[in-house]
Amino acid sequence: MTVKFAWKPEYETGNARIDKQHRQLIDLANLLWVSVERDRAEAVATAAIEALTAYAAYHFSDEEEFFERIGTPVLADHRKQHEALSADIKALAVEDLLGTKGIGARLEHWVEERLIPHMMYSDQEALRAGKTEEEAIT
Ligand SMILES: [Fe+2]
Repeated sequence: MTVKFAWKPEYETGNARIDKQHRQLIDLANLLWVSVERDRAEAVATAAIEALTAYAAYHFSDEEEFFERIGTPVLADHRKQHEALSADIKALAVEDLLGTKGIGARLEHWVEERLIPHMMYSDQEALRAGKTEEEAIT
């Protein structure tokens, strides 16, 4: 079965831990897409939104901790981007609670126009701007 949001090599930042978490985010977005667009199972969609919200919060804070450790100078701006991405997911959850249609389209926009560019540009930039992990340890 083809997935809605396929992982592409250009999404990779080169940091194994971050890439693994990014893949997980895309997997959860796919799960939500299936529940909204294919199965149309409301309870599953709600659970999928909760899972995506919780995992995004975990990932953003884990990533910020890492960027802090490697001393990336763009951390403050990066945190703001994470806050905006989280706010969008929360808005999606509210739409779901209200029973609004069009969650699939909003999810598609969030993944393709917000999350993927964030991974491809902002995360890669933050990684490049910081020290390497080895430098950060010593
Ligand atoms: Fe990020």
